[in-house]
Amino acid sequence: MKVLVATQKPFAAVAVKGIREILENAGYEVVLLEKYASEAELISACADADAMIIRSDKVTPEVIEAAGKLKIVVRAGAGYDNVDLEAASRKGVVVMNTPGQNSNAVAELAIAMMIFISRTQFTPATGSEVKGKRLGVQAYGNVGRLVGEKAKALGMEISALDPFLTDEQILAAGAQPVHSVEELYSSSDFLSIHIPALPSTIKSIGYDLVSRMPKGAVLVNTARKEVIDEEGLMKALEERPDLKYVTDVMPDNYAAMQEKFGLRVFATPKKMGAQTAEANINAGLAAARQIVDFFTTGNRKFQVNK
Ligand code: 3PG
Repeated sequence: MKVLVATQKPFAAVAVKGIREILENAGYEVVLLEKYASEAELISACADADAMIIRSDKVTPEVIEAAGKLKIVVRAGAGYDNVDLEAASRKGVVVMNTPGQNSNAVAELAIAMMIFISRTQFTPATGSEVKGKRLGVQAYGNVGRLVGEKAKALGMEISALDPFLTDEQILAAGAQPVHSVEELYSSSDFLSIHIPALPSTIKSIGYDLVSRMPKGAVLVNTARKEVIDEEGLMKALEERPDLKYVTDVMPDNYAAMQEKFGLRVFATPKKMGAQTAEANINAGLAAARQIVDFFTTGNRKFQVNK
């Protein structure tokens, strides 16, 4: 049994070691493909793989087609918009994620980004504090709740919108429930985005929502760049010199944004929300365990292409 660990953005060495131990103890062969430069490299590496562990690596129909022996792909992380689920299902390949395993790292980064942009990117210009400000959390799942919890400790007031949760569940998880996206944006000094990239959410955050935000508001995106309508966002930032945007997912128009908006915008050069040793260990080892469990007991608990 061959397991390909294909990570364009490698796991920390300590996580790779742990992944190897779990898989080799189960008698599997582990092949590591890190920092590969093209899909062709992935296609040739997956040809004889029975299982794959990936991160944001793109598993296209071409990859699925080339991996003739593939039975399972585990995305070590939360979002699986990088995997073509239909192509996988057509070939009977099980796709799983490892929900919650890297959430704390992403939540810590969201908080760090709020402070970084509020303190004018650590330049001496006068900034503002997060204490006493209203934080809106768009989707109160694993990451959103942790952002809420940490923000509360900083003295922020938390409200959340999540169509999959009842008001009682949101209240029990420490936030005030909000019932429309318009209401959330209108009432948040900081807005932290935690929605997945789906046909219904792609480009869903643009001029209309951003321009509703209160004076001096900050939009924080540690989710996916695809959920932003960049043209609309730029129009809002242009009209409202008080608004700021900070993101862990480099916008397509970042150069233009920097030129126009200076210290009001910031993007990490490469997505780094989940890039901690702890998150790599949690998600990577969970992925390895899920593969062993799948082959030994048939457990499909975290399958996402049902
Ligand atoms: C996720 O969906 O889990 C995060 O976006 C992290 O992605 P990464 O593993 O590519 O850093």
